[in-house]
Amino acid sequence: MNKTRAAITGVFGYVPDYVLTNKELEVMVDTTDEWIQTRTGIQERRILKGEGKGTSDMGAAAVLGLLAKKGIDASEIDLLICATTTPDMQFPATANIITDKIGAKNAFGFDINAACSGFIYALTTATKFIEAGSYKKIVVVGGDKMSSIINYEDRTTCIIFGDGAGAVLLEPSTDENGIVDSILKSDGSGRIHLHQKAGGSSKPASHETVDAKEHYVYQEGQSVYKFAVTNMAEVSAEIMEKNHLVADDIAWLVPHQANKRIIDATASRMGIGSEKVMLNIHKYGNTTNGTIPLCLWEWESQLKKGDNIVLAAFGGGFTWGAVYIKWAYDTK
Ligand code: UT7
Repeated sequence: MNKTRAAITGVFGYVPDYVLTNKELEVMVDTTDEWIQTRTGIQERRILKGEGKGTSDMGAAAVLGLLAKKGIDASEIDLLICATTTPDMQFPATANIITDKIGAKNAFGFDINAACSGFIYALTTATKFIEAGSYKKIVVVGGDKMSSIINYEDRTTCIIFGDGAGAVLLEPSTDENGIVDSILKSDGSGRIHLHQKAGGSSKPASHETVDAKEHYVYQEGQSVYKFAVTNMAEVSAEIMEKNHLVADDIAWLVPHQANKRIIDATASRMGIGSEKVMLNIHKYGNTTNGTIPLCLWEWESQLKKGDNIVLAAFGGGFTWGAVYIKWAYDTK
């Protein structure tokens, strides 16, 4: 009998209605639509509005859409993992809040925080539970309300990020399709270039930290760019070599959407053309943990059973990695 693999058997996404355009940002900070598009590829991003709304609301909407599409009751979910960098609260885990909101009474849940690589870390973790035979239905959510930690007076960060969430269902497969391999890496020394200065245990929130705007994303863009462009490209090439794949074998690259130039460099290193690259950064910006599942959701109808797909990400930590999937189903 074939080895049991974890297969993605459904995907769904949610983006908030409010569209924050480059034109609107031109009024808020000293920037231009032309600068943003040339340097990042972003035209607009979505923002979650509404008192008390958090990452869990977008995650719950994505999971409910997924369950409805699959005809599955929430009580059938065994485990829900939420990859997020903007949890509703420091604790409890956003996964617990989502399971409550959707009525997944039989699921346990926990969060994974690996910044922009969180979704592929969570997917890999979930894969191991399926391969071990522990659980049959695992939902992996990736989502962020980045607008909750962005300083809309800082032109170097506010133009990049947006809000959104996606969710995938993982189930056992014995037909060789599913998640084949993953390579995950991290280097904590990179934290100096990308972090949130206050609100954690080393610098709890105080009047001073709020006045100093230390609860917002701090990013040294160029330093992060240099690491991202090299490491996301290298790890994507590494997973291809490890699995004896050449460019022609790859149906799709699903890259984290941080900057179109980083995505182009990754595709070029893999030797694949832009027609095989999922790209929605122009519409949503960088939704951190949401980027990869949102791409899968939007491209689902074009994916075919047996397609070789590489997911690749790079983010704060630093964290980075790649996942190799043989897609498990045709969309009817
Ligand atoms: O997903 C998590 C991981 N994060 C990333 O992967 C992000 C990686 N970094 C990047 O994508 C890019 O570094 C940025 C998009 C953040 C910035 O692009 P850049 O080409 O690296 O620009 P830069 O930081 O080198 O800035 C170039 C110039 C500077 O002006 P001077 O010093 O040359 O006069 C900036 O002050 O552009 C200026 N600048 C802006 N100008 C207009 C920075 N932000 C803006 C802006 N509008 N929004």
